Amino acid sequence: MSGSPDAREHAARVLSRVDAAGAHAARLLGDATPMTRELVLGVLRWQRTLDHLLAPRLRQPLATLDPPVRVVLRLGLYEALRLRTPAPVAVAEAVRVAKVLAPPASGLVNAVLRRAVESSWPPDDDEALALGLRFSHPDWLVERWRALLGDGVTRAALAADQLAAPLTVLASPLSEAALQDAGCELAPHPWSPLVRVVTGNAAAAVRVIAAGGAYALDATAALVATLAPAVAGRAIDLAAAPGGKLLSLAGVGAALALVGADRHLGRVLMLRRNLQARHIPDVVLAMDGSRPALRPGSFDLVIVDAPCSGTGTLRRHPEIRWRLRRSQLGELVAAQRRLASGASELVAPGGYLLYSTCSIEPEENEQVVEALDLEAVQVRAHLPAGVPCIERAGGGVIIPPTAHGDGFSVHLSRRLAG
Ligand SMILES: C[S@@+](CC[C@H](N)C(=O)[O-])C[C@H]1O[C@@H](n2cnc3c(N)ncnc32)[C@H](O)[C@@H]1O
Repeated sequence: MSGSPDAREHAARVLSRVDAAGAHAARLLGDATPMTRELVLGVLRWQRTLDHLLAPRLRQPLATLDPPVRVVLRLGLYEALRLRTPAPVAVAEAVRVAKVLAPPASGLVNAVLRRAVESSWPPDDDEALALGLRFSHPDWLVERWRALLGDGVTRAALAADQLAAPLTVLASPLSEAALQDAGCELAPHPWSPLVRVVTGNAAAAVRVIAAGGAYALDATAALVATLAPAVAGRAIDLAAAPGGKLLSLAGVGAALALVGADRHLGRVLMLRRNLQARHIPDVVLAMDGSRPALRPGSFDLVIVDAPCSGTGTLRRHPEIRWRLRRSQLGELVAAQRRLASGASELVAPGGYLLYSTCSIEPEENEQVVEALDLEAVQVRAHLPAGVPCIERAGGGVIIPPTAHGDGFSVHLSRRLAG
């Protein structure tokens, strides 16, 4: 792979912060070059497999090395084995970066990498190897998904998590014109009429998006708009920032007066900017959705797009898989239940609650909705044809991660009229 040497150093600095300080890679990659982005996200996606190949070449456990040394080793091996950078170039570049970030360890990086680049990458169809090793996921998550999704869907989901996510934008004549004027190429999405895929000149598209001319949104996140066409009146998204769900609803011309709320003031202001940039009349509130300061029963559609573990978004946020602990799901669920309960109070008789997360774990989804005193509505019938999904007992769906969309869960329920 060609590219400026600084891209590698930048990648190593970002990876060190993710490794040592628990930083979110996507937040640090805002203005990164495509090569830095590829290196950072690729190393995080393949971390377990890379560590498996590095371990036998080291005299001490990888976990005991300083973070910059650890990440430079992963970076060099990733380049040599996954990006087909000639091995001597990958090793020399890793040593050069080590001399900047961890000078005393540059000799170790050289010695370890020279031998590690001789390794063979574990074939993804070698059934003798654990799935979690072949697709670089923790075993506990793989076992959870096998029980939930079955072997075939799990394998496809694991493979999808290892792909770079395409850039997709909300479909609208204005933003498509802005993108085309900037020299971007767009294609229809395989199953969603709500988004377009940027297939050429992504760098220009990123500039148009940053200037407010288009809105980047994953295809599954936009699906919320297909679930509300029959509802008219007032709608509120109780956890609305940065605004993707409300923008999707406005984009399909839903007959709804839209209100957006979020607990964090900074995010409310971001939401407001995003709505104003698209001339959507905005009513935005800074409010804790679990204790909404609004009249009960005053909305025909209440959306809760709850903060979650993000297990559907591992291709965009690969480090989540290494951080998430089973025990954390319980903590998240308590907050999700409070939010869903606050939301259900606002649903008018005959109105709907749409609960979604970008997690595919039942505890964060169907088990939250089941506890509410509302009537379940079948979701599948409202989705565009071709959306891969697994129907759950309560009428909601899990959409597993695929090459065409993040993993997502959606449940729709209704307060009976009268
Ligand atoms: C998954 S994001 C929402 C994404 C948004 N619906 C969209 O489509 O762009 C979750 C949001 O929930 C907000 N949040 C977390 N706890 C909240 C609470 N108790 N009340 C309101 N918002 C909350 C966070 O600030 C965050 O913006």
